[in-house]
Amino acid sequence: MAKKSVRKTEQASWGGRFSESPSELMLSFGESVSFDSALAQFDIQGSKAHAQMLCKCSIISSAECSQILKGLDKISKAIDEGKFKWDVSLEDVHMNIEQALTKIAPAAAKLHTARSRNDQVATDMRLFFKYACSEIIVKLRDLLAALVDLADANKDILIPGYTHLQRAQPVSVAHHILAWAEMFHRDFERIAFARESANVSPLGSGAIAGTTLPTDREYEACLLGFIDESGRPRVTRNSMDAVADRDVFLEFASACAVMGVHFSRVAEDVILWNSAEFGYIVLPDAFTTGSSLMPQKKNPDSFELLRGKSARLIANMNCLFTLVKGLPLTYNRDLQEDKPPVFDSFRQVMICLDVLREALKGASFRRDRCAAAVSDPLLLATDLADYFVSRGVPFRQAHHMVGALVKLSEDSGTPINELDDSCVMKVCPKAGKDWREVFDLKRTMKMREKTGMPGSAQISKRIKNWRKVLDC
Ligand code: ARG
Repeated sequence: MAKKSVRKTEQASWGGRFSESPSELMLSFGESVSFDSALAQFDIQGSKAHAQMLCKCSIISSAECSQILKGLDKISKAIDEGKFKWDVSLEDVHMNIEQALTKIAPAAAKLHTARSRNDQVATDMRLFFKYACSEIIVKLRDLLAALVDLADANKDILIPGYTHLQRAQPVSVAHHILAWAEMFHRDFERIAFARESANVSPLGSGAIAGTTLPTDREYEACLLGFIDESGRPRVTRNSMDAVADRDVFLEFASACAVMGVHFSRVAEDVILWNSAEFGYIVLPDAFTTGSSLMPQKKNPDSFELLRGKSARLIANMNCLFTLVKGLPLTYNRDLQEDKPPVFDSFRQVMICLDVLREALKGASFRRDRCAAAVSDPLLLATDLADYFVSRGVPFRQAHHMVGALVKLSEDSGTPINELDDSCVMKVCPKAGKDWREVFDLKRTMKMREKTGMPGSAQISKRIKNWRKVLDC
């Protein structure tokens, strides 16, 4: 049964119309300070800008303003030093800070003028997103630089590329690693987009319909850095949308989920390459673990966890979409649940970026195993079809001819490149004496020098370009 609060808790911010305090059960159910205290510094930043705006608009005096600013600085310091006492009965980060401020600065009673927790929390979160995206961008850049180094260091190693997890065509290790770089670069762009979306100030929208007081939204937007590239303020255009909108949450969580899918796909490549069956890559001891039972085991746990974390990142995204989809305008308390998934995605993406970068930095390729795998002549079956095409055979026929040769090779147990000339001429009368040259790996890579292909000149060009873009 719901216990009533025994204390006569004065709900200083909204208690006026109530004769009873909320029950203990309601307090513990409704509090968010256990997770939104992470927003404290953004909340203080927002409050400082708001106080300065109120002062500029002569709603509070300069003495009151400086009292508020000093008080907020004190609170900020106390929070940083872990000395601030968070009180669950004050619900959230906003009321905790406001109450603490009231105790040291009487002018704090005026701070919430022309502001609601609805535009306040929207502002805090936009400040958080700008910060979080910038942090992720730094780590994505570091990961990209590590990938480029790894590709560069292994440029001359060829491996089979796969489709359907069946050997398809030869590629360089560098080409494969640079494919990962393209994936993470798109993440970079998605996160940068989310940061841009966040860069609009909802402050001043009030609870839903702004305020009757003479405020200056543009001024406080500028103070908080919600500006465009020419320094002009960026403010939301509809007060109802401003407090209801959670699109940036969805964009951020989606960008993190896509990144999670990339972590997972890269991890899967590495896990396969690391298996005894492939044996292409050796992972550093520091990012692998042993088995408690089987002494010989060295498991790629770091990569398995990277693969596993993607589930969590996708779940966080799903949680937010589900949370928001049926809500009527504008603010509903459901929205308090918007923060844990976003904070979790941020924390997980940050650690995943570190782990992937460091684990790959310590990885090395086994030249012998790669060379053995890539020596399979069937990897060049398509090159043989291209060769027939160059001798005037329509591609569909060339494809069939090579198919017939593959079958012949399989049936006779003779590698395709060791079949008799007569055999090949019978299948393709247009074939020349030089047909066997097709099976030279150097030749095939040399012929793949168009944009985006794995030829070594292309790879060097891409590496050079990445180094310029990333300044690494
Ligand atoms: N803790 C609340 C949240 O995160 C702050 C906004 C509360 N607004 C309200 N109208 N009760 O959503």
